Amino acid sequence: MRRDFINAGILWFVLTLAAELLLPVLFGMFPLAASEEAAVSDESFRLLMILGTPVFTFVVAVLIYSVINFRARDGALENGAPIRSNDRVAGLWLLVTGGLCVTVIVHPGLTGLAKFQGDRNADVVVKVTGRQWTWDLSYPEYNITGATEVVLPVNKRVKFEITSTDVLHSFWIPAFRNKMDAVPGLVTTMFVTPDKVASFAEDYNLRVQCTEICGLRHAAMSVPVRVVTLSEFEKWTQEKSILADNPVARGETLARSQACMACHSTDGSTLVGPTWRNLYGSPVVFEDGTTQTADEAFLLQFITDPDFKIIKGFPKGVMPQSFGKTLTADQLDDLIAYIKTLGPD
Ligand code: CUA
Repeated sequence: MRRDFINAGILWFVLTLAAELLLPVLFGMFPLAASEEAAVSDESFRLLMILGTPVFTFVVAVLIYSVINFRARDGALENGAPIRSNDRVAGLWLLVTGGLCVTVIVHPGLTGLAKFQGDRNADVVVKVTGRQWTWDLSYPEYNITGATEVVLPVNKRVKFEITSTDVLHSFWIPAFRNKMDAVPGLVTTMFVTPDKVASFAEDYNLRVQCTEICGLRHAAMSVPVRVVTLSEFEKWTQEKSILADNPVARGETLARSQACMACHSTDGSTLVGPTWRNLYGSPVVFEDGTTQTADEAFLLQFITDPDFKIIKGFPKGVMPQSFGKTLTADQLDDLIAYIKTLGPD
Protein backbone atom coordinates (compact mmCIF):
# COMPACT_ATOMS: atom_id res chain seq x y z
CA MET A 1 0.00 0.00 0.00
CA ARG A 2 2.70 2.42 1.05
CA ARG A 3 4.78 1.42 -2.00
CA ASP A 4 1.78 2.11 -4.25
CA PHE A 5 1.46 5.62 -2.85
CA ILE A 6 5.15 6.28 -3.46
CA ASN A 7 5.15 4.81 -6.98
CA ALA A 8 2.00 6.66 -8.06
CA GLY A 9 3.42 9.79 -6.42
CA ILE A 10 6.62 9.52 -8.45
CA LEU A 11 4.59 9.02 -11.65
CA TRP A 12 2.49 12.08 -10.77
CA PHE A 13 5.61 14.16 -10.14
CA VAL A 14 7.22 13.15 -13.46
CA LEU A 15 4.03 13.76 -15.47
CA THR A 16 3.48 17.13 -13.77
CA LEU A 17 7.05 18.23 -14.38
CA ALA A 18 6.88 17.25 -18.06
CA ALA A 19 3.51 18.97 -18.57
CA GLU A 20 4.51 22.16 -16.74
CA LEU A 21 7.72 22.33 -18.80
CA LEU A 22 5.66 21.97 -21.99
CA LEU A 23 3.23 24.76 -21.04
CA PRO A 24 5.47 27.65 -22.23
CA VAL A 25 5.39 26.07 -25.71
CA LEU A 26 1.60 26.23 -25.61
CA PHE A 27 1.65 29.80 -24.28
CA GLY A 28 3.90 30.77 -27.19
CA MET A 29 1.10 29.83 -29.59
CA PHE A 30 -1.29 32.54 -28.36
CA PRO A 31 -2.51 34.84 -31.15
CA LEU A 32 -1.58 38.53 -31.21
CA ALA A 33 -2.65 40.32 -28.01
CA ALA A 34 -3.27 44.01 -28.67
CA SER A 35 -5.12 45.35 -25.65
CA GLU A 36 -4.74 45.64 -21.88
CA GLU A 37 -7.73 43.30 -21.55
CA ALA A 38 -6.01 40.73 -23.77
CA ALA A 39 -3.06 40.72 -21.35
CA VAL A 40 -5.47 40.09 -18.43
CA SER A 41 -7.23 37.34 -20.36
CA ASP A 42 -4.01 35.61 -21.43
CA GLU A 43 -2.57 35.88 -17.91
CA SER A 44 -5.74 34.22 -16.56
CA PHE A 45 -5.44 31.44 -19.08
CA ARG A 46 -1.79 30.85 -18.20
CA LEU A 47 -2.59 30.76 -14.47
CA LEU A 48 -5.49 28.32 -14.95
CA MET A 49 -3.29 26.02 -17.02
CA ILE A 50 -0.47 26.12 -14.45
CA LEU A 51 -2.87 25.40 -11.56
CA GLY A 52 -4.99 22.88 -13.45
CA THR A 53 -2.14 20.78 -14.80
CA PRO A 54 -1.19 19.06 -11.46
CA VAL A 55 -4.87 18.19 -10.88
CA PHE A 56 -5.10 16.66 -14.34
CA THR A 57 -1.80 14.77 -14.04
CA PHE A 58 -2.84 13.49 -10.60
CA VAL A 59 -5.94 11.84 -12.07
CA VAL A 60 -3.96 10.51 -15.05
CA ALA A 61 -1.13 9.21 -12.82
CA VAL A 62 -3.50 7.32 -10.50
CA LEU A 63 -5.37 5.94 -13.50
CA ILE A 64 -2.25 4.76 -15.34
CA TYR A 65 -0.71 3.28 -12.18
CA SER A 66 -3.92 1.43 -11.26
CA VAL A 67 -4.49 0.08 -14.76
CA ILE A 68 -0.96 -1.35 -14.88
CA ASN A 69 -0.44 -2.43 -11.28
CA PHE A 70 -3.90 -3.71 -10.36
CA ARG A 71 -4.75 -5.35 -13.68
CA ALA A 72 -6.12 -8.92 -13.71
CA ARG A 73 -3.20 -11.33 -13.85
CA ASP A 74 -3.12 -14.40 -16.05
CA GLY A 75 -5.38 -17.09 -14.67
CA ALA A 76 -6.92 -14.89 -12.00
CA LEU A 77 -10.60 -15.79 -11.59
CA GLU A 78 -11.41 -13.94 -8.37
CA ASN A 79 -12.13 -10.24 -8.01
CA GLY A 80 -9.47 -8.13 -6.34
CA ALA A 81 -9.66 -7.05 -2.72
CA PRO A 82 -12.63 -4.73 -2.00
CA ILE A 83 -11.85 -0.99 -2.08
CA ARG A 84 -12.83 0.94 1.02
CA SER A 85 -12.96 4.70 1.18
CA ASN A 86 -10.05 6.64 2.59
CA ASP A 87 -11.41 9.65 4.42
CA ARG A 88 -8.05 11.34 4.66
CA VAL A 89 -7.41 11.14 0.89
CA ALA A 90 -10.99 12.15 0.02
CA GLY A 91 -10.89 15.07 2.44
CA LEU A 92 -7.55 16.27 1.15
CA TRP A 93 -8.71 15.98 -2.48
CA LEU A 94 -11.84 18.02 -1.71
CA LEU A 95 -9.84 20.60 0.21
CA VAL A 96 -7.24 21.08 -2.54
CA THR A 97 -9.57 21.14 -5.56
CA GLY A 98 -12.25 23.12 -3.69
CA GLY A 99 -9.61 25.59 -2.53
CA LEU A 100 -8.29 25.95 -6.07
CA CYS A 101 -11.81 26.59 -7.39
CA VAL A 102 -12.53 29.32 -4.86
CA THR A 103 -9.12 30.86 -5.54
CA VAL A 104 -9.64 31.12 -9.30
CA ILE A 105 -13.18 32.45 -8.83
CA VAL A 106 -11.67 35.35 -6.87
CA HIS A 107 -8.56 35.66 -9.01
CA PRO A 108 -8.44 35.83 -11.98
CA GLY A 109 -12.28 35.61 -12.06
CA LEU A 110 -13.55 38.59 -10.06
CA THR A 111 -10.39 40.66 -10.34
CA GLY A 112 -10.35 40.16 -14.13
CA LEU A 113 -14.04 41.09 -14.43
CA ALA A 114 -13.35 44.26 -12.45
CA LYS A 115 -10.59 45.17 -14.89
CA PHE A 116 -12.84 44.48 -17.92
CA GLN A 117 -16.01 46.24 -16.78
CA GLY A 118 -15.18 48.08 -13.53
CA ASP A 119 -14.34 51.48 -15.01
CA ARG A 120 -17.39 52.69 -16.98
CA ASN A 121 -15.61 55.79 -18.30
CA ALA A 122 -14.37 55.86 -21.87
CA ASP A 123 -12.34 58.22 -24.06
CA VAL A 124 -14.02 57.06 -27.27
CA VAL A 125 -17.48 55.58 -27.83
CA VAL A 126 -18.18 53.38 -30.85
CA LYS A 127 -21.75 52.37 -31.58
CA VAL A 128 -22.04 48.94 -33.13
CA THR A 129 -25.17 47.53 -34.72
CA GLY A 130 -25.13 43.99 -36.01
CA ARG A 131 -27.39 43.11 -38.91
CA GLN A 132 -27.44 40.28 -41.40
CA TRP A 133 -24.66 40.38 -42.46
CA THR A 134 -22.57 43.35 -41.54
CA TRP A 135 -21.58 45.61 -38.67
CA ASP A 136 -22.92 49.16 -38.76
CA LEU A 137 -20.28 51.32 -37.04
CA SER A 138 -20.63 54.91 -35.91
CA TYR A 139 -18.72 57.39 -33.76
CA PRO A 140 -21.42 59.69 -32.34
CA GLU A 141 -18.88 62.11 -30.77
CA TYR A 142 -17.35 62.72 -34.21
CA ASN A 143 -20.58 62.59 -36.22
CA ILE A 144 -19.28 59.62 -38.21
CA THR A 145 -21.73 56.99 -39.41
CA GLY A 146 -21.31 53.95 -41.61
CA ALA A 147 -17.59 53.52 -40.94
CA THR A 148 -16.17 50.62 -42.92
CA GLU A 149 -13.39 49.83 -40.44
CA VAL A 150 -12.91 50.13 -36.70
CA VAL A 151 -10.22 52.78 -36.14
CA LEU A 152 -9.11 53.23 -32.53
CA PRO A 153 -6.52 55.40 -30.81
CA VAL A 154 -3.83 53.51 -28.94
CA ASN A 155 -3.82 53.56 -25.10
CA LYS A 156 -7.30 55.11 -24.89
CA ARG A 157 -10.22 53.39 -23.23
CA VAL A 158 -12.85 52.53 -25.84
CA LYS A 159 -16.47 51.70 -25.10
CA PHE A 160 -18.43 49.70 -27.64
CA GLU A 161 -22.21 50.09 -27.39
CA ILE A 162 -23.54 47.02 -29.11
CA THR A 163 -26.98 46.07 -30.39
CA SER A 164 -28.64 44.23 -33.27
CA THR A 165 -31.53 44.98 -35.62
CA ASP A 166 -32.47 41.42 -36.47
CA VAL A 167 -31.07 38.26 -34.87
CA LEU A 168 -28.41 37.50 -32.25
CA HIS A 169 -24.88 38.33 -33.34
CA SER A 170 -21.72 38.48 -31.25
CA PHE A 171 -19.05 41.16 -31.47
CA TRP A 172 -15.56 39.74 -31.18
CA ILE A 173 -12.10 41.12 -31.95
CA PRO A 174 -9.70 38.18 -31.45
CA ALA A 175 -6.64 40.36 -30.72
CA PHE A 176 -8.61 42.04 -27.88
CA ARG A 177 -9.89 38.63 -26.63
CA ASN A 178 -13.17 39.77 -25.03
CA LYS A 179 -16.46 39.59 -26.91
CA MET A 180 -20.05 40.64 -26.37
CA ASP A 181 -23.42 39.50 -27.71
CA ALA A 182 -25.38 41.85 -29.98
CA VAL A 183 -28.99 41.42 -28.87
CA PRO A 184 -32.03 42.97 -30.62
CA GLY A 185 -33.72 45.52 -28.35
CA LEU A 186 -30.83 45.64 -25.89
CA VAL A 187 -27.62 47.69 -25.72
CA THR A 188 -24.67 45.76 -24.34
CA THR A 189 -21.29 47.31 -23.61
CA MET A 190 -17.72 46.18 -23.99
CA PHE A 191 -14.60 48.09 -22.92
CA VAL A 192 -11.23 47.81 -24.57
CA THR A 193 -7.93 49.64 -24.18
CA PRO A 194 -5.84 48.87 -27.28
CA ASP A 195 -2.14 48.98 -26.40
CA LYS A 196 -0.43 48.20 -29.72
CA VAL A 197 -0.36 50.20 -32.94
CA ALA A 198 -1.26 47.55 -35.52
CA SER A 199 -3.87 46.74 -38.13
CA PHE A 200 -5.73 43.96 -39.88
CA ALA A 201 -3.28 44.27 -42.78
CA GLU A 202 -0.49 43.08 -40.45
CA ASP A 203 -2.40 40.54 -38.38
CA TYR A 204 -5.80 39.05 -39.17
CA ASN A 205 -6.65 38.81 -35.46
CA LEU A 206 -7.29 42.54 -35.62
CA ARG A 207 -10.75 42.23 -37.10
CA VAL A 208 -14.31 42.24 -35.92
CA GLN A 209 -15.74 38.79 -36.37
CA CYS A 210 -19.32 37.73 -35.73
CA THR A 211 -19.14 34.77 -33.38
CA GLU A 212 -22.81 33.81 -33.12
CA ILE A 213 -24.16 31.78 -36.02
CA CYS A 214 -26.62 34.16 -37.73
CA GLY A 215 -27.39 32.83 -41.18
CA LEU A 216 -26.02 32.40 -44.67
CA ARG A 217 -23.15 34.91 -44.59
CA HIS A 218 -22.30 34.73 -40.88
CA ALA A 219 -18.66 33.98 -41.70
CA ALA A 220 -18.43 37.07 -43.90
CA MET A 221 -19.61 39.34 -41.05
CA SER A 222 -16.16 40.73 -40.54
CA VAL A 223 -14.69 44.25 -40.46
CA PRO A 224 -11.00 45.25 -40.28
CA VAL A 225 -9.65 46.92 -37.14
CA ARG A 226 -6.84 49.48 -37.10
CA VAL A 227 -5.17 50.82 -33.94
CA VAL A 228 -3.40 54.12 -34.61
CA THR A 229 -1.72 56.95 -32.74
CA LEU A 230 -3.95 59.66 -31.30
CA SER A 231 -2.91 62.19 -33.98
CA GLU A 232 -3.66 59.71 -36.77
CA PHE A 233 -7.02 58.98 -35.15
CA GLU A 234 -7.88 62.68 -35.10
CA LYS A 235 -6.86 63.00 -38.74
CA TRP A 236 -9.09 60.05 -39.65
CA THR A 237 -12.11 61.43 -37.80
CA GLN A 238 -11.66 64.78 -39.58
CA GLU A 239 -11.45 63.14 -43.01
CA LYS A 240 -14.54 61.06 -42.29
CA SER A 241 -16.53 64.13 -41.21
CA ILE A 242 -15.59 65.89 -44.48
CA LEU A 243 -16.60 62.83 -46.52
CA ALA A 244 -20.01 63.07 -44.89
CA ASP A 245 -20.68 66.10 -47.18
CA ASN A 246 -20.24 64.07 -50.38
CA PRO A 247 -23.36 62.22 -51.69
CA VAL A 248 -21.36 59.43 -53.38
CA ALA A 249 -19.26 58.84 -50.24
CA ARG A 250 -22.43 58.91 -48.14
CA GLY A 251 -24.02 56.42 -50.52
CA GLU A 252 -21.03 54.09 -50.32
CA THR A 253 -20.91 54.10 -46.52
CA LEU A 254 -24.68 53.60 -46.47
CA ALA A 255 -24.35 50.62 -48.83
CA ARG A 256 -21.84 49.09 -46.46
CA SER A 257 -23.74 49.86 -43.27
CA GLN A 258 -26.98 48.48 -44.73
CA ALA A 259 -25.15 45.31 -45.75
CA CYS A 260 -25.92 45.77 -49.45
CA MET A 261 -22.40 44.53 -50.16
CA ALA A 262 -23.15 41.22 -48.52
CA CYS A 263 -25.22 40.33 -51.61
CA HIS A 264 -24.16 42.81 -54.33
CA SER A 265 -20.55 42.97 -55.49
CA THR A 266 -19.00 46.08 -56.98
CA ASP A 267 -16.40 44.20 -59.03
CA GLY A 268 -18.67 42.33 -61.44
CA SER A 269 -18.76 39.03 -59.56
CA THR A 270 -22.13 37.47 -58.79
CA LEU A 271 -23.03 36.98 -55.14
CA VAL A 272 -26.57 36.45 -53.85
CA GLY A 273 -27.89 39.35 -55.95
CA PRO A 274 -26.82 41.06 -59.20
CA THR A 275 -23.52 42.95 -59.21
CA TRP A 276 -23.63 46.74 -59.19
CA ARG A 277 -20.64 46.99 -61.54
CA ASN A 278 -21.92 48.49 -64.83
CA LEU A 279 -25.52 48.03 -63.66
CA TYR A 280 -26.60 51.62 -64.13
CA GLY A 281 -27.93 52.23 -67.65
CA SER A 282 -27.79 48.55 -68.67
CA PRO A 283 -30.81 46.44 -69.59
CA VAL A 284 -32.15 44.17 -66.86
CA VAL A 285 -33.78 40.92 -68.03
CA PHE A 286 -36.75 39.65 -66.04
CA GLU A 287 -38.00 36.10 -65.51
CA ASP A 288 -40.99 36.82 -67.77
CA GLY A 289 -38.71 37.69 -70.68
CA THR A 290 -39.24 41.47 -70.59
CA THR A 291 -36.39 43.93 -70.08
CA GLN A 292 -36.02 47.36 -68.53
CA THR A 293 -33.14 49.82 -68.43
CA ALA A 294 -31.62 50.25 -64.96
CA ASP A 295 -32.10 54.01 -64.70
CA GLU A 296 -32.65 56.04 -61.54
CA ALA A 297 -36.39 55.37 -61.47
CA PHE A 298 -35.83 51.61 -61.83
CA LEU A 299 -33.19 51.54 -59.07
CA LEU A 300 -35.45 53.49 -56.73
CA GLN A 301 -38.39 51.18 -57.39
CA PHE A 302 -36.24 48.07 -57.03
CA ILE A 303 -34.61 49.12 -53.76
CA THR A 304 -37.93 49.99 -52.14
CA ASP A 305 -39.98 47.12 -53.65
CA PRO A 306 -37.53 44.40 -54.68
CA ASP A 307 -40.12 41.79 -55.61
CA PHE A 308 -42.12 43.94 -58.03
CA LYS A 309 -40.47 41.92 -60.78
CA ILE A 310 -38.16 38.91 -60.63
CA ILE A 311 -34.78 39.34 -62.28
CA LYS A 312 -33.78 36.34 -64.40
CA GLY A 313 -31.42 34.03 -62.56
CA PHE A 314 -32.06 35.45 -59.08
CA PRO A 315 -34.49 34.08 -56.48
CA LYS A 316 -37.49 36.00 -55.22
CA GLY A 317 -37.90 37.20 -51.64
CA VAL A 318 -34.22 37.33 -50.71
CA MET A 319 -33.72 41.10 -50.64
CA PRO A 320 -35.27 42.84 -47.61
CA GLN A 321 -38.57 44.60 -48.42
CA SER A 322 -37.98 47.22 -45.74
CA PHE A 323 -35.61 49.76 -47.33
CA GLY A 324 -38.52 51.92 -48.54
CA LYS A 325 -39.44 52.39 -44.88
CA THR A 326 -36.08 52.42 -43.13
CA LEU A 327 -34.20 54.72 -45.55
CA THR A 328 -35.03 58.37 -46.09
CA ALA A 329 -35.51 59.83 -49.59
CA ASP A 330 -32.10 61.55 -49.24
CA GLN A 331 -30.43 58.28 -48.28
CA LEU A 332 -31.99 56.55 -51.30
CA ASP A 333 -30.64 59.38 -53.52
CA ASP A 334 -27.16 58.92 -52.01
CA LEU A 335 -27.30 55.19 -52.60
CA ILE A 336 -28.31 55.61 -56.25
CA ALA A 337 -25.64 58.31 -56.71
CA TYR A 338 -23.09 55.75 -55.54
CA ILE A 339 -24.41 52.95 -57.78
CA LYS A 340 -24.21 55.34 -60.76
CA THR A 341 -20.48 55.84 -60.19
CA LEU A 342 -19.87 52.08 -60.58
CA GLY A 343 -20.27 52.37 -64.33
CA PRO A 344 -20.57 52.04 -67.19
CA ASP A 345 -17.68 54.50 -67.03
CU1 CUA B 1 -23.80 37.80 -37.31
CU2 CUA B 1 -22.98 35.61 -37.19
